[in-house]
Amino acid sequence: MKTLLIGASGTIGKAVAGRLAENHELIVAGYSNGDVRVDLGNTESIRSMFAEVGNVDAVISTVGVANFGPFDQLPDDEYQLALSNKLMGQVNLVRLGRGYINQGGSITLTSGVLSREPMQGSVAVSMVNGALESFVKAAALELDSFRLNVVSPIFVKETMAMMGMDTDGGLSASDTAKSYLASFNGSMHGATLDARTYA
Ligand SMILES: NC(=O)c1ccc[n+]([C@@H]2O[C@H](COP(=O)([O-])OP(=O)(O)OC[C@H]3O[C@@H](n4cnc5c(N)ncnc54)[C@H](OP(=O)(O)O)[C@@H]3O)[C@@H](O)[C@H]2O)c1
Repeated sequence: MKTLLIGASGTIGKAVAGRLAENHELIVAGYSNGDVRVDLGNTESIRSMFAEVGNVDAVISTVGVANFGPFDQLPDDEYQLALSNKLMGQVNLVRLGRGYINQGGSITLTSGVLSREPMQGSVAVSMVNGALESFVKAAALELDSFRLNVVSPIFVKETMAMMGMDTDGGLSASDTAKSYLASFNGSMHGATLDARTYA
């Protein structure tokens, strides 16, 4: 299947690409790497990406910028970044990409466990993750030519290691990638896939 993977150079994206590359035609998009360049925070850039790539069977997004920060110190621009990049960037992949998805195909977005299991400093991240999961559930009611789902990863072991954290309690990128494959191959529509369920 012809698949557009946005964020293939990232920690999760690399693992998803590794699982898909053998059996599928993969087109990779990223901000500074890939067959196609796209800025998730820029609507025109998303429009150009789809025009360049054309029709596909599946879109997988493993991108989305949103930063941590204490609630009483988080500035306006951090909220705006989370909203315009991780949230609206992925919403726009569906709004602008829907006409390019072949009948019976799928779009899979990325949220994160912090929507349902927040921690101190996660307000902006939790906010957009929750919104993405609600968006997918609602939009799926009005989409019938392709399936739409969102994967909710927990902390990825490789990311934790990069941050100097103890990796106990995390999930490897390779195991996290299994939930994207489940969305890609499965029959679910409007679902939030908790990465722990598919590991
Ligand atoms: N890692 C975790 O522990 C974890 C846990 C829960 C949820 N998540 C979520 O999973 C997603 C991926 O996380 P990750 O850790 O794998 O990310 P990552 O390693 O930081 O990779 C980021 C990817 O996004 C691309 N990118 C960055 N800014 C972009 C922009 N403005 N437009 C288009 N592409 C852009 C990068 O492309 P270039 O390399 O081409 O610049 C890269 O491929 C994010 O939504 C994150 O919130 C991650």
